[in-house]
Amino acid sequence: MDHFVSIKDLTDYELMHLIKLSDKMDNNGDAPFKEQLFAGNLFFEPSTRTKMSFLVAERKLGIEVLDFHNETSSTKKGESVYDTAKTFESIGASFLVIRHPVNNMAQQLAEQINIPIINAGDGTGEHPTQCLLDLYTIYQEFQEFQGLNIAIAGDIKHSRVARSNAYALQTLGANVFLSCKKEWQDKSLDFTYMELDQAVKTCDVIMLLRVQEERHKQHDRLNKTSYLSQYGLTKERANNMLNHAIIMHPAPVNRGVEIDSELVECKQSRIFKQMENGVKARMAVIYHLFQSRGISYGNYNQKCQPSIVQ
Ligand code: NCD
Repeated sequence: MDHFVSIKDLTDYELMHLIKLSDKMDNNGDAPFKEQLFAGNLFFEPSTRTKMSFLVAERKLGIEVLDFHNETSSTKKGESVYDTAKTFESIGASFLVIRHPVNNMAQQLAEQINIPIINAGDGTGEHPTQCLLDLYTIYQEFQEFQGLNIAIAGDIKHSRVARSNAYALQTLGANVFLSCKKEWQDKSLDFTYMELDQAVKTCDVIMLLRVQEERHKQHDRLNKTSYLSQYGLTKERANNMLNHAIIMHPAPVNRGVEIDSELVECKQSRIFKQMENGVKARMAVIYHLFQSRGISYGNYNQKCQPSIVQ
């Protein structure tokens, strides 16, 4: 694995390997790398969870983090994303984590830059590390994917999380259903659409998505209260969920829009668990990228070794 830009690059075997590796990523105090590594976290879009969990993951792996703030960087003098990335490569960054509003930006950089690129969200394209932490959270709960019924509900058209998760879950054998208002259906995603009222009665996982207002046209402003009652997870709908079913959301959550505020921390919610798992999933991706380049210690975490994918 040279880069981590699209979930579609991974086989079911590789996905399972990364999920299991995430589970083993304890901070056991050992430095896993033979050489000093530097991370460049290039966030050109707002982020709290993804940016901070990469930071924690990198620190736990003993990696030095090169601080970058778009607002005070030379991009404000007109420097391009490519030149910014090339600069980080030149001054010694070992890999780059990039979030950018333009679809395929991580992919483009991966073709132009000689250090690993990790996609932390590209426009409405993909969000593979969010996907991995979501897969890990589902695996923790059910220990398998085959035959699970999973509904992804919300702003499908504008969500990079929906795209990555739908493909990965299908690759792993889950039955994926999409649920949203008609205008937000995405014809490029070949999955069955289902009303949320039906999904809550039949699905093992209800994965909600944030309404991506920043990607909507000005005239698309939505009535938030009626959105919740028509398309969101209300307490009434949650009452119809299967006993063992769980609620997920990549966050940030618009409380009272996609989900009733009281459900965010209810017994069936795994929303904060997802965030916790994000650190381990990101550690696993970084560790795996450098392990396949031969610069991590083979004995960093003995428990991980048997099924390592090169
Ligand atoms: C997601 C993102 O940025 O795509 N958030 C995240 O990374 N946890 C989802 C969202 O913003 O709605």
